[in-house]
Amino acid sequence: MPEPTATVVHSTAACQVLQAQLGEWDNLNHLIVCTASKEAVVVDPFDAAYWFETAAAHGFRLVGAWLTHSHWDHTKGIEEALALGGEGFEVVVHEAERERGWSGPHTRALDTPPNVATALHVGELTFEAIRTPGHTPGHLTFLGHGIVVSGDCLFLGRCGRADLHGGDPASLRSSLKHLRSRMQALPEEWIVLPGHAYTLPDGRTPYHLTLGEVLNENEAMAALDSDEAWTALPFLAFDDALARRARDQS
Ligand SMILES: [Fe+2]
Repeated sequence: MPEPTATVVHSTAACQVLQAQLGEWDNLNHLIVCTASKEAVVVDPFDAAYWFETAAAHGFRLVGAWLTHSHWDHTKGIEEALALGGEGFEVVVHEAERERGWSGPHTRALDTPPNVATALHVGELTFEAIRTPGHTPGHLTFLGHGIVVSGDCLFLGRCGRADLHGGDPASLRSSLKHLRSRMQALPEEWIVLPGHAYTLPDGRTPYHLTLGEVLNENEAMAALDSDEAWTALPFLAFDDALARRARDQS
């Protein structure tokens, strides 16, 4: 199978973002680049070699990886990234991911309470890593410079599931309310970059949408203010092998 080519999904004078869909679970990986310093970090690398090669081909230096959460499909490339990145390569995760039994390699664990942000830097750029639990206990959403990298918390047409080990629907709802308030205060042309692309009710399967589109059209966002609508959402829990394993673990 030919390797996917990373697509430039966001480009300003200061910041460029490349996106590629990698792995058998179709994960969206994102490379965030400071154009001034040429330093880059990768969010949720599935394949570290792919991202080191892509960065080198563009003249970028890959200096770290930020993890939205610790599910295997978002962290598979981390060990190899640490090996390839060598000394100084930073892997950021939230320490609450331990609550779901995760103990994978990292170099920096954030310890913020829910809906509180930590400043993360790549080159001359500063992003916020907002703790947005619910899909997992220590899920992070990265926000800044025209992008919201939302992992498995917020997808384009809906939200992530809350029925896996460490998941919690009430926390997810609180996280989405917080993200909504943050997003409403930002320019509506900023874009949301999720961890997976799923087909929307209208049949499209976009890989990113504007904040304005997500705020207006996302089914989970639309249900946040009604207990009845929220609990009726069909994608907070599924009856599948992953959910059965989560019940065994809990
Ligand atoms: Fe996940």
